[in-house]
Amino acid sequence: MKIAPSIICADFTRLGEEVRSLEAAGADLLHFDIMDGMFVPNITFGPGLVEALRDETDLPFVVHLMIQEPDRYIEKFAISGATYITIHAEATQHLHRTLQMIRTFDVCPGVALNPTTPLTFVDYVLEFVDLVSIMGVNPGFAGQAFIPSVMRKISALREMIDNRGLNGIEIEVDGGMRPDLVPDVVAAGADIVVGGQSIFVPGMDYAESIGRLRIQQRQAVG
Ligand code: DX5
Ligand code: ZN
Repeated sequence: MKIAPSIICADFTRLGEEVRSLEAAGADLLHFDIMDGMFVPNITFGPGLVEALRDETDLPFVVHLMIQEPDRYIEKFAISGATYITIHAEATQHLHRTLQMIRTFDVCPGVALNPTTPLTFVDYVLEFVDLVSIMGVNPGFAGQAFIPSVMRKISALREMIDNRGLNGIEIEVDGGMRPDLVPDVVAAGADIVVGGQSIFVPGMDYAESIGRLRIQQRQAVG
């Protein structure tokens, strides 16, 4: 299981330092939540911030676009240094075309589904993505509670991917992750867990908060 801290929860007054500390603490990827105030009721940051942090670490960057009509910004986020660009199936008219566009910039395409969006939304694009992100919360804010019904969606997606032999696709679970939920999401088939509230814990250093997630994972796999 890979761990991806969500930068939205980091200390914005010293992001370079934060990124280096997260890498040193064992993070596997960094997760950038891009919000436009339209697709979600919140606004965060843009390609400039991704670019500013690109040379601070060699960790892969997963750029999670919670924006309407993401086609408009694929090139800018590709140039800024994204390793993956994840778009919401609910935010574009032409999902296949947008995923193909991401690939033309040598960036790994990902598709994200809101908690109640059915897996049928990815039925005809699975072979065009490297990552499917299952939202555990309604997108827009960190620190929310995981929606329990999402757990069976993770298992169903894992079964869908395995049945088609598309083993290169990674399943990311994004939102509401707590240490006690890690064994269940790992057992359901998750490859990547995004951590906001579970990693950025007041008074706890990142080695400890990331370590807690790893311990839970080891207990899950025995
Ligand atoms: C929510 C974001 C998530 C969130 C993760 O819209 O996509 O990445 O910031 O934070 P937690 O783990 O606190 O839900
Ligand atoms: Zn996210």
